[in-house]
Amino acid sequence: MITSVTVAEKGDVLVCANGGEHDMRFHAVWLRDNAPDANTRSPQNGQRLISITDIPDDLVIRSAELAGGKVMVRFSDRDQDIAFEPDWLSAHSYDTAPAASGFRLAPDVEAWDQRLSNAMPCADFDALHDDPAVLLDWLQGLNRHGVAKVSAGPVESGALLDVASLFGYVRETNYGKWFEVRTEVNPVNLAYTGLGLQAHTDNPYRDPVPTMQILYCLENSAEGGDSIVVDGFACARRLHEENPEDFELLSQHCAAFSYEGSKGVALHSRRPMLECTPDGELTSVRFNNRSAAAFTDIPFDKMNAYYRAYRRLGELVDDPQMQVAFKLQPGESFIVDNTRVLHARKGYSGDGTRWLQGCYPDKDGMKSKLASMISEQGAQS
Ligand code: FE2
Repeated sequence: MITSVTVAEKGDVLVCANGGEHDMRFHAVWLRDNAPDANTRSPQNGQRLISITDIPDDLVIRSAELAGGKVMVRFSDRDQDIAFEPDWLSAHSYDTAPAASGFRLAPDVEAWDQRLSNAMPCADFDALHDDPAVLLDWLQGLNRHGVAKVSAGPVESGALLDVASLFGYVRETNYGKWFEVRTEVNPVNLAYTGLGLQAHTDNPYRDPVPTMQILYCLENSAEGGDSIVVDGFACARRLHEENPEDFELLSQHCAAFSYEGSKGVALHSRRPMLECTPDGELTSVRFNNRSAAAFTDIPFDKMNAYYRAYRRLGELVDDPQMQVAFKLQPGESFIVDNTRVLHARKGYSGDGTRWLQGCYPDKDGMKSKLASMISEQGAQS
C-alpha cells in the first residue's frame, strides 16, 4: 500500500512510502523503461516499443503524485504523466536486501530425496487430458520436484507424444523425434543394452541440453530394469553442506562432454557440472559418466581437488537415500527435468522384454503452460 510519493536525488529517484514499512526507491531510468503507457508497451501483446537508446541519458523525474489510486509520474522526456499501478510497483520493488550468499534454489523448487517415493506427482493419462484441474496440479508437482509419473496410458508406439502434447513441444535430435530404448545387438549408445546405468542427465554434450525427458514403457517383463530418479539439486545441496569448496570447484570450472557414437554426429560441450546464475542460484546439473570427455579447463593446481569433488558428487548420486526407484508397467511413463533430475536404470536380464520409448520436450513449454494456467485461474477467481 503506497501512502505517499516524493521525488529525490534531483529527480533521479522516486521514493514510495508504504505506511511505515520500508520505503521503496525506484530510479528514473528504471521507471521510464518499465512505463506501462501505450507509447512504451504495446497494448495488444505487452511487448516493449522503445529501446534503451530511446531513453535520454540525462532523464529525470519532473514530478510525481498519488492520484486516483495510481502513482502519476512526469518524466523530462514527456509532457504528460505516466500512471503506474501501486501494486505493480510493490510487486517489482528491487530496493531490498541482497540475497544471502550460500546455496540457493529458485523459490518454486523443492529438493527431495528417497522420501519422495510415496509422494511423487502422478496422474492418470486420461484425467490429464480431460481435466484441467488434474493437469494443473500435476504440472505444479512436476515443476516443483522436476519429476512426475503418468499412469494408465495406451500401450501404443508413439503414445509418449501424447504425454508431451499436454504441455509443450518435442525437440528432435539425431536420435529422432523419439527413440527406442531396448536391447540392440550393436548399440550406438549404451542405453540400448541391458547394462545398468549410473544415474545421469541425458545428452550433456548438447548445448543447450534437452531440458526434459519422457520415458514411456511399452513392455517390461524382463528381470530387473527398474527405473531410478535422483534429484541433482538435492545432491548439490548436500555437497555444499559438506564442503562449500567442492560445490565451488564443480560450479566455477567447466567440465567437458562429447558424443561421437554415430556416423555424422560429433557433439561437444564445455559447461560446469553445477551451473549457477551470477547471483548464486543453482540452475542446472550435468552429470553423465558415459559422455564425460577429458576435462581440460580446470587449473593444474586444482585438478585433484576437482576430482575429489566430482567423486563425492558421484557418491551422493549413488546413495540409495537419495534415490527413488520404481518399475514402470506398460502404459506408464515418467518425465524428468533433465537440467536437474538424474535418471538411472538397474541392469536387466535377457529373459522377457523391456521396451521403452523416450523423447525430449522443451521445459520452456512446460513452464509457459503452467504459468498461463495459473494466470487464467487467477483471472477467473
Ligand atoms: Fe538416459
